[in-house]
Amino acid sequence: MTKLCQHFGACGGCTLQNVDYPLQLQQKAQTIASLFNLSPSSTPLSPYPPIPLPSPETFFYRNRMDFAFGPNYSIGLKDKKNNIINIEKCLLMSDKCNAVLNRLRYFIQYKKLKNYKDGLLRHVVIREGKNIDNCIINLLTSDKGVFPLEELWEKTKDLVNGVIWSVNLSAADRSYGDIKQFFGQDYLMESLNGLKFKIPAQSFFQTNTKQAEVLIQVVQEFAGLSGQETVLDLYSGTGSIGLSLAHKAKEVIGIEENQPAAQLSLENAKLNNIANYSALAGKVEDLLDKMNEKDDLIVLDPPRPGVSKKVITKIGRARPAKVIYVSCNPESQKHDIDKLREWGYGIEKIQPLDMFPYTPHIENVVLLTVNI
Ligand SMILES: C[S@@+](CC[C@H](N)C(=O)[O-])C[C@H]1O[C@@H](n2cnc3c(N)ncnc32)[C@H](O)[C@@H]1O
Repeated sequence: MTKLCQHFGACGGCTLQNVDYPLQLQQKAQTIASLFNLSPSSTPLSPYPPIPLPSPETFFYRNRMDFAFGPNYSIGLKDKKNNIINIEKCLLMSDKCNAVLNRLRYFIQYKKLKNYKDGLLRHVVIREGKNIDNCIINLLTSDKGVFPLEELWEKTKDLVNGVIWSVNLSAADRSYGDIKQFFGQDYLMESLNGLKFKIPAQSFFQTNTKQAEVLIQVVQEFAGLSGQETVLDLYSGTGSIGLSLAHKAKEVIGIEENQPAAQLSLENAKLNNIANYSALAGKVEDLLDKMNEKDDLIVLDPPRPGVSKKVITKIGRARPAKVIYVSCNPESQKHDIDKLREWGYGIEKIQPLDMFPYTPHIENVVLLTVNI
């Protein structure tokens, strides 16, 4: 297969660009089948192997890219040796986002802004709504100076709807910091299956919008709600899953540790005229008392490390009839599901999705049930 990206090979971004798309799906199906010990005879887990639902778009599909600043005014992704590859065009994001990236590169060159650790610049996050036309950038710096944000805003506002400056004092190589200043929007707008979401600049949102719509349809189908159920949406973010289940449930409660995300999930409920949704800000581990026997369905969508033992135990005791486990890390998901099996839960359905074409990552949705 022809590789399309000029940076392929050097860049650590999409490592499977030399593999045909149907083959990528086959390989991901085999990974899930062997991880979950599936066999051709294991019904109702058919078809075998469970082929991931293909991404509606295989290039330009990301609504968010995080780049690091490197020496000599480079901006890009890292190679295997942690060097920054100066990315001129990234095929995972739109032409507009590439234009933003190149405008920013020109700006830091013109302002002679240097990269961390000697200089100010650490990361930039570019986020773009795919269903709602808007774009924001978040510049993450050290505290070794002041980022000329207003000047950048003047030079980019024909392309973006907001610029944000955040300081990351942590040694960790992460694109998260304390917001110091912004011009225009400090949030992104996006919609999924017709529901609108306001997303804080530094909060999680599914990165492949079109495939996130499919993911939500899978969760809705697995949930099979009748309108009478109480649903607990754990690790709920800005409410994309919980709010998408609300119209078929009696009540939905979200729990999310990122305060701005939890807060905006409530705003998103209002924005979409949803009255039976509430959300609590805090760690799931600390709000375990909110899980009780009256929950009919618990949705889990934790970060990559998965769910703590304490949370598994509480779910086992609360014993909801259904648990839907959404994960971008099937290995930690399998580990947690093995623990839920000890409480009597069995796998009823598995549906992988290809959320990240041309990368080895797999999104996986599992429906677990228990006899109550
Ligand atoms: C994979 S995201 C899922 C978000 C949401 N379900 C969605 O689809 O947009 C995981 C979320 O869990 C949150 N989180 C991480 N650790 C948490 C914890 N211990 N308790 C509550 N939320 C947590 C993160 O802030 C993030 O929003």
